[in-house]
Amino acid sequence: MTFAGRFEDSLVVEQLSKLSVSFLVDDLEIRRGGVAPNISFGLAALGLSPVLVGAAGQDFADYRSWLERHGVVCDHVRISESRHTARFVCTTDSTMAQFASFYPGAMSEARLIELAPIVARVGEPAYVLIGADDPDGMLRHTEECRQRGYRFIADPSQQLAFGEGELIRALVDGAALLFTNEYESHLVEQKTGWDAAEILGRVEVQVTTLGAEGVRIRRREHDDLVVPAAAGVTAVEPTGVGDAFRAGFLAATTWGLGLERAAQVGCVLAAYVVETVGTQEYAFTAASFLGRLGDSYGAAAAAEVEPHLRPA
Ligand SMILES: Nc1ncnc2c1ncn2[C@@H]1O[C@H](COP(=O)(O)OP(=O)(O)OP(=O)(O)O)[C@@H](O)[C@H]1O
Ligand SMILES: [Mg+2]
Repeated sequence: MTFAGRFEDSLVVEQLSKLSVSFLVDDLEIRRGGVAPNISFGLAALGLSPVLVGAAGQDFADYRSWLERHGVVCDHVRISESRHTARFVCTTDSTMAQFASFYPGAMSEARLIELAPIVARVGEPAYVLIGADDPDGMLRHTEECRQRGYRFIADPSQQLAFGEGELIRALVDGAALLFTNEYESHLVEQKTGWDAAEILGRVEVQVTTLGAEGVRIRRREHDDLVVPAAAGVTAVEPTGVGDAFRAGFLAATTWGLGLERAAQVGCVLAAYVVETVGTQEYAFTAASFLGRLGDSYGAAAAAEVEPHLRPA
């Protein structure tokens, strides 16, 4: 919501113990989000059939239809009997001051989800990506992946700020891939107490997004690989860029392409998101996607992706 005035003008410092304020807002926007739906939407947009796993409320029905219409498999979303779907609610005033709340709600039931029965239905997954979720749920999914030998991806993002070292170490150790942005990569080092070299000893590939600078890929015994962001991007609103990058990167990896190509596909998908308001409002044709890929990374990149790309 947007409040045209200033919160400051409604707050009486001496009366904070009896605080009760109300703001007449002139704009309400409701946006889709959540890291798992965002990443799944991106994978489906490129032609894959991602399986969304998580916990939502009875209010999930509309979101489910939207996601299913766009190719995301939602059969394994757990629906809570008593709690609503997690949401972030925020009011911004004319000075960009914010009052915000995050309601985890049904999300806390993610810890009750077991992966094996889902795998029995959908087949062995190429990867299980464990994104920011109920911390106990993240831990349980990671441990189940280790036990059952599913290749897993650590993508703890928002939970890095809250989690203690012990949790972060348990989420990262043994991952096929570790995704973070640059700030989060420092948080991982700080919280785990592992330096850059030790992290590389514990994950196969570390992918760090660098905003408009692109992405850096690290592996043991390889030089760092830096892939620049897509060319000709007019940034409008960044929410969801990181998720789109992951979707593009993982789609290309699933197609059997190399890491550099995967990062290029990720950067192009992220470009569509940063150019729109919202996280799932973009659409493209195969021709436009391949055109952008070619303009940014050369004709060979477009030619290699062309046989695989099947936009929804
Ligand atoms: N201004 C930009 N111009 C072009 N590409 C961008 C821009 N910002 C982000 N990207 C693309 O998106 C990818 C992810 O961006 P970034 O590192 O900002 O993710 P993030 O911090 O996780 O974002 P968020 O959490 O808001 O989704 C980058 O690697 C890049 O390809
Ligand atoms: Mg992010």
